[in-house]
Amino acid sequence: MNVGVLASGSGTNLQALIGAAARGELDPARLAVVGVNVPGCGALERATQAGIPSFVLDHKAFASREGFDAALVESLRRHQVELVVLAGFMRLLTPAFLAAFPHRVVNIHPALLPAFPGTHAQRQAFSYGVKVSGCTVHFVDNGTDTGPIIAQAVVPVLESDDEESLRARILTEEHRLLPAVVRAVAEGRVSVDGRMVRVRGAAIEADARLRSL
Ligand code: GRF
Repeated sequence: MNVGVLASGSGTNLQALIGAAARGELDPARLAVVGVNVPGCGALERATQAGIPSFVLDHKAFASREGFDAALVESLRRHQVELVVLAGFMRLLTPAFLAAFPHRVVNIHPALLPAFPGTHAQRQAFSYGVKVSGCTVHFVDNGTDTGPIIAQAVVPVLESDDEESLRARILTEEHRLLPAVVRAVAEGRVSVDGRMVRVRGAAIEADARLRSL
């Protein structure tokens, strides 16, 4: 299954996917292309280093969201992408984009949804004073971080934490969870029925919960 990764930032989740692919842990998923909307971002550099084809589409060069998304779809299609992974992609996608990849767009979010959607999720969780947080991989729908949940990993929030240490602890779990989900989707083990997502075989979320608490 050809995977297209979209990113805007430093690309550590992309790096986790690259590492998993190099170890054969992503099979039968294959990283076909990386697309970024921020010229010169870390994710682009990581794709280049790994020898993965990439493209840059600067959203600022487009008059409308629709135009930007149409160009995104075209670029992904050119690389025969079947599964789109949002790995720190800081743009909301239009219904037309999602219709082009039905149930084939996944996002990683650094909180336990439905708590703390949107930006600065780790800061929201830390400020709220929750005792556990974590990350969520979900299918993308037309809302912001509202799509059906595929897997979650939990981390404790310690009294000694600050926002940065919590962010780092969550990120470690993100790097484990995202490749595991991509592999499961590519293996055809993930099915969606309304809001209910079922993952056959190894229970992705259970291992993390046992390891983290
Ligand atoms: C991650 O925390 C991810 O959950 C969020 O954006 C961040 C991207 O980090 N959606 P990186 O670019 O993968 O390092």
